[in-house]
Amino acid sequence: MAKIFVTRALPGTGVEQLRAAGHEVVVSTKNGQLTKAELHEMVRDQSFEGLVTLLSDAVDNELLALMPELKVVANYAVGYNNIAIDLAADKGIIVTNTPGVLTDTVAEFTIALMLSVVKRIPEADRFTRAGQYDGWAPELLLGSDLKGKTLGILGAGRIGQAVAQRAHFGFGMHVIYSDMQPSGELEKTIPCQYFTETDSVLAEADVVSIHVPLVPATTHLINAERLAHMKPTAYLINTSRGPVIDEVALVAALQSGVIKGAGLDVYEQEPLLTPGLAELESVVLTPHSASASEETRAKMSEMVADNLIAYFSGVVPPNVVLPA
Ligand code: DGY
Repeated sequence: MAKIFVTRALPGTGVEQLRAAGHEVVVSTKNGQLTKAELHEMVRDQSFEGLVTLLSDAVDNELLALMPELKVVANYAVGYNNIAIDLAADKGIIVTNTPGVLTDTVAEFTIALMLSVVKRIPEADRFTRAGQYDGWAPELLLGSDLKGKTLGILGAGRIGQAVAQRAHFGFGMHVIYSDMQPSGELEKTIPCQYFTETDSVLAEADVVSIHVPLVPATTHLINAERLAHMKPTAYLINTSRGPVIDEVALVAALQSGVIKGAGLDVYEQEPLLTPGLAELESVVLTPHSASASEETRAKMSEMVADNLIAYFSGVVPPNVVLPA
C-alpha cells in the first residue's frame, strides 16, 4: 500500500481505482489550483510515495526536496513540461503521462478553433447578441474558406497527424508540415509535404497549427521574425503550450496586420493574457480546454490510476516518460 497525494479533485474513477487497489489517497480539498506554497505545505513531512499532478503544478527541485519518499509522479496530462524530468530521473523517480487518450479530442478542438477564427463565429455571436444585426448584408462579417487552402502543421506527432487528417478529409486542405524528421506515418494516410525548416511551412501555409512539445528548442519557436514569414492572410492556431509563441510579438503582429488572426487555447504566462490580446477581434481565446471532454478527462484519470497501480505492483507503468 502506498500513500498518494492528488493535487486536485479529478473527474472519472481514478481515485476510486487507487483506493480499491489498497492505496491511501489524499486529494486536495481546495476548490481550485493549489499555489506553489499551498502544494509545498500539503506534501511537507507527509511521506507521500506517489503524486498526481496537473500540468500547472511545478514539480521542481523545491518540491522534490520536500518529498524524500516520492517514487512516482503521474501527470494528469500528455505534456509534462511542468516536471523537471532530469531531476526526477536523477533521484530515481518515475514520471508518467496520459498519451493517446486525448488525441482525437484535442484534434477536434483544434479544428473547432480553426473554424471559429476563420469563419469569425465568436465575433458573429457577440455581434448578434449585442443587437447589432439589423439585416442581411453582402459584406457582413466576411470570413475565409478552408477548401483548397494549405494547412501547415508544426510537429507531426499524434495530435498534429490527427489534425492534418481531419483538415484533409473534412475540408480538402493541402497539408504541409515540419518536424525534426519526416513522420513516415502521416504520409501513409494523406498526401502531404515535409519541410525541414519551420520557416518554409510558415511562408506557404494559410493556416498554421502548432503541435510541438514545450522544450528549450521550441520556446518562442514563433517569434516576431517567424511571424513576419507568414502571409498577411494567414491564421495561427495553438493548442500545444503557450510559451511556444512569443505572445508580445503575436499581439504586435495581429495589431499591425502581419497575420490575419489567431486561435489560442494556451498562453505564455497562463492563466494571464498578454496585454492587448483580449481586445483583439481577430483572435479566438479558450482556457486551455482542448482536451476537456467528459469522456477524455475521465479516461485520463483512469490512466493516471493505471500507471500508479502498475508501479506500486512492481510492474513498469504503461506510460513512463524519460528524459530526452
Ligand atoms: C495535455 O494533456 O498536455 C493537454 O494540454 C491538456 O489539455
